[in-house]
Amino acid sequence: MNYKEKHKKLSIEIEQHNYNYHSLDKPTISDYQFDQLFNELLELESKHPELVTETSPSQRAGSTPLDKFSKVKHRTPMLSLQNSYSPDDILAFDERIKKFLNSDEDVEFICEPKLDGLALELVYEKGLLTKAITRGDGTTGEDVTLNTKTIKTIPLKIDAGAVPDVFELRGEVLLHKSDFESLNEGQLSQGLETFSNPRNAAAGTLRQLDSRVAATRPLRFYAYAPGVIDGHGADSHYQFLEAVNQLKIPNLIAKKIKKSAIIKKCKNAEEAVAHYHFIESVRDQLEFEIDGMVMKVNSFQLQQELGFVARSPRWATAAKYKPKQETTVIKDIVLQVGRTGALTPVAIMEPVFVGGVTITNATLHNESEIARKDVRIGDTVVVQRAGDVIPEVVEVVLKKRKKSSVAYEFPQKCPVCGTKAEKNEDEAVYRCPNLFCPAVVKESLKHFVSKKAMNIDKLGEQITKQLWTEGLVKTFSDIYTLKKEDILPLERQGEKSANNIIKSIDASRQPELSRFIYALGIRFVGEQTAKTLANYYQDVPSFLKATEEDLLALNDIGPKVASSITSSLSNKDFVKEVQNLLKNGVKIAKSDVTNASKKLKGLKFVITGSFDNYKRSDLKKTIEVNGGSSPGSVSKNTDYLIAGEAAGSKLKKAEDLGVKVLSIEQFLAMLD
Ligand code: IVH
Repeated sequence: MNYKEKHKKLSIEIEQHNYNYHSLDKPTISDYQFDQLFNELLELESKHPELVTETSPSQRAGSTPLDKFSKVKHRTPMLSLQNSYSPDDILAFDERIKKFLNSDEDVEFICEPKLDGLALELVYEKGLLTKAITRGDGTTGEDVTLNTKTIKTIPLKIDAGAVPDVFELRGEVLLHKSDFESLNEGQLSQGLETFSNPRNAAAGTLRQLDSRVAATRPLRFYAYAPGVIDGHGADSHYQFLEAVNQLKIPNLIAKKIKKSAIIKKCKNAEEAVAHYHFIESVRDQLEFEIDGMVMKVNSFQLQQELGFVARSPRWATAAKYKPKQETTVIKDIVLQVGRTGALTPVAIMEPVFVGGVTITNATLHNESEIARKDVRIGDTVVVQRAGDVIPEVVEVVLKKRKKSSVAYEFPQKCPVCGTKAEKNEDEAVYRCPNLFCPAVVKESLKHFVSKKAMNIDKLGEQITKQLWTEGLVKTFSDIYTLKKEDILPLERQGEKSANNIIKSIDASRQPELSRFIYALGIRFVGEQTAKTLANYYQDVPSFLKATEEDLLALNDIGPKVASSITSSLSNKDFVKEVQNLLKNGVKIAKSDVTNASKKLKGLKFVITGSFDNYKRSDLKKTIEVNGGSSPGSVSKNTDYLIAGEAAGSKLKKAEDLGVKVLSIEQFLAMLD
């Protein structure tokens, strides 16, 4: 096979794996194997630059930042939808259509979720993705093609024979809720600002000038409409979605919740109303956020007859869901102590039914939010529950305030252990600094046993609480000395459940290092950071010796996280607890991580200058995967300097300090 054929074969293979992993959620090879294929592709392209086409999978990694986005006119304007908030408006919409068409016959509608992201138009020319344009003002949008190519679920090529020469389609770009949480975790661990919601995060990412940043964030796209309609063969919206599905462009036509399709063909407006309620009832079970239902006349011919009014089509409308709000009375304000010691004020209220559930507690966030809203005990307040977020107090109904009400004074002490609360200058929250505060321990235990941590599934909240109140489990390591006889006397525990608990504890005794580190609950150390740490340190004793300098040299770890880790590691009680866990029979499992190469173990490489075929970030990764680290500056602790083209002051400093200087070839030879 010549190199061109090899490149083609690799490209097809990589895109199939992208599809398996990102669209089907069913990878057939490991991440490591995938990286190998991808690196092989990059290597071929660096030797034969003419292979780097606009639709090579290598474009998924992003490229050099733009100065600004260029403006592109939409071939046909991207309109908006009329909004309403009531199912009655669905019936009124149907009436208007019938009146306009001068007919009594039922109109068929396609009803689908209104995705809460941002609109994007894709343009395929002769089957190749050539442009992606934001909505902009509806007439002209921004060219975000480079960022869009990093979205792994969007095919860079589609079957050219199945679509017109210029094929346009529109859809929504968004982040899944779980990806949003991991993204924020990563932001925190790098000491960066977090995003307030998935929509903002998606918008910020799509409008990134540096597509390499966009490439690290798991944006998604779901198609929901054609651009210019002509020539793609479908007669109806539903057929169009089916064709899109055939092309493997992501869409929601096949998506089911509780065995019911989320996109429904409705024979009339009554069925549309029913589907409006159905979508709302499963809203929390969707992976992404939605804010309503969109209903569209199915027939393209009818759509054309109906046309537009102002900037909206007459053939479609959006029925939104109200954030559920109710009023109730605040009986008390208490402080809740979180796993990290954060003191969160919570309003205890007269029970009230909001959005399908009865709530008695709502968060007041922090001291300044209470002051801003001027919330007082005894006040009548509006509470809200949107999507699956925690209920919150929106505002006080001042008309109903009693004269006797007094402003809430935020306690200066932890309500549980009485330690003086502390507040960082740059934060809004007060914290209890006592690591052994019973409330902190209780919450930490909950985290320690949770699924993504030690995964002791039989130690549910109730039993953990019992064990803790009985004084049987005061710290993590106490869990591993528990015996059946300890559990039997507890309320509601029998022979069988006690056995199950012990079994489930035993099953957790061999965690992967990353889970173990995550379970320890160090502030800012989420799952991703724990993986980075496990990958680098490879065993507990090395991790316990981590220094700030070392940590800062790792990808994804910023000053805030590094100092949080070192402060835990310099706490004698913390270290003792880790050692007790090992002493009580926790043994780190051999995993992919510990099998990784240790060729560069403990070595510090500073990288300077530029390299023809390698990005610095890739070199850094290579160093870490092999057990080394890559600090940003040269010191007497540096083992090697890897110097590329145009190396400057770092090279001089290395020479002054007598640090060994390597060429890229010499470095690569160390890995052979
Ligand atoms: S169809 C003529 N379908 O809602 C407009 N739009 O105001 C055709 N949106 O910014 C749009 N989910 O980004 C359509 N299933 C869906 C949608 C949807 C969300 C957004 C769209 C646009 C806004 C319309």
